[in-house]
Amino acid sequence: MPTQTNPASAPDFEQLDRADIVHGFATLHAQATNDVVVIQSADGMRVTDNRGREFLDGGGGLWCMNVGYGRQAIADVAAAQMAKLPYFHSFGLFSNEPLIRLADRLLKLAPPGMTRAIFCSSGSEANDTQIKVVRRYNNLLGRPEKKKFIARLSSYHGSTVAAASLSGLPMMHEKFDLPIPGIVHTLSTDYHRRPASIGPPEQFTQYLVDNLTQLIEREGPHTIAAFIAEPITGTGGVLVPPPGYFREVKRVLDHYDILLIADEVITGFGRTGAWFASPALELKPDLMSIAKGLTSGYFPMSGCLLSAKVADVLYADQSSHAMFAHGFTWSGHPVGAAIANANLDIMEREDLPGNAAHVGAYLIERLRERFTGHPLVGEIRGKGLLIGIELDADPTTRKPFAQYPKVSGLLSKACFDERLLVRGGHDRTIAALAPPLMATKTDADEIVARLGRAIDRVSAEVKAAGLAA
Ligand SMILES: Cc1ncc(COP(=O)(O)O)c(C=O)c1O
Repeated sequence: MPTQTNPASAPDFEQLDRADIVHGFATLHAQATNDVVVIQSADGMRVTDNRGREFLDGGGGLWCMNVGYGRQAIADVAAAQMAKLPYFHSFGLFSNEPLIRLADRLLKLAPPGMTRAIFCSSGSEANDTQIKVVRRYNNLLGRPEKKKFIARLSSYHGSTVAAASLSGLPMMHEKFDLPIPGIVHTLSTDYHRRPASIGPPEQFTQYLVDNLTQLIEREGPHTIAAFIAEPITGTGGVLVPPPGYFREVKRVLDHYDILLIADEVITGFGRTGAWFASPALELKPDLMSIAKGLTSGYFPMSGCLLSAKVADVLYADQSSHAMFAHGFTWSGHPVGAAIANANLDIMEREDLPGNAAHVGAYLIERLRERFTGHPLVGEIRGKGLLIGIELDADPTTRKPFAQYPKVSGLLSKACFDERLLVRGGHDRTIAALAPPLMATKTDADEIVARLGRAIDRVSAEVKAAGLAA
């Protein structure tokens, strides 16, 4: 809704934003009246808004700012590539040098077995692409009925029609007429909210695998094409799988000839203390989705990595309709590829995966020290610099808040007032941390101090409002 502005004075950006822009993942009626935070600059671990408020970015933007803000080397590479070749497409036989270098390097960095890369611009596009790749794979194998996808509750795979359908968060489906047909959901690895009958984590693994097997049998194994999972669920609450989970899932999938897609959009590129999270979790993917840390958010770029098992079938297609009719205007963008290469150079040079492992372990330890016996903190979990601090109405019984949206609102406000940005939850109250991977122990101490004050304040507010009852 355009508003009148006085050209002689600086525009009221907040007012203009409220009037003009539809923000995702906000309630639109609130967004149209609430304060807008106009971020203006950033450096290292911190971002600053147009009122001069500086925030410690504990969420790494949207879990994507891996090398930290203000990397001049990336800006220089981007400027040089803009000047030399600002754009060309990668359809047909066209390519560009930064892209070729990037693909070569990614296939060497990725878990064993990945042989081809498809490039896109977002994690959602990558997951949509996976669906098309898998459909084509089974069509070429003469199995037109093997088309369904199994995804998991609490998962987040993106916002496009297909990726939102894969996602297992109700808000992604409600009022959007999703999921699309052919997508079914199985249980998440939410040990904290496990049924009362479940004991040790190994029993939980068996419970989840039995559930998956029953779902496959119910749907008909000949109809199931692929299973998609985040190695560690991010947006859905930083859910770490119980021991042996992916090994056992893979055994079931292999038995039924079902492909395994690892959505490493958050977990890739050092976030969990290794280049990718899959190997340490015994997750052996047939396909992988990557985005976010690929460029540390400096450019929208994503990709799908294909194992030989899948790629060989696609490449063997000699039919007259063999055209792989898929791609986007920005697929394989030369500036994006140059930025990704510069980003990976920094990660390698500074061993950011190693730093994430080291500082992440320290941060988890400090958080556990700070919150031991805290009246609201139910669980602290994570790996590397991907950490969730979940709040419960009663941590001793793991009882969740009946009014969790209200408590989540209090938590997000308290963190904001402490000038600490964290990621929130959608069906629970959680402070999720995914800070830049160059974080130091001093940064970790600062996060603990600010989060500690914020959660203490929420505790007092919850008590005063009777929200733990
Ligand atoms: C695991 C996962 N997959 C896919 C996506 C979608 O990525 P994008 O927002 O770039 O479309 C996200 C975004 O948060 C994600 O966390």
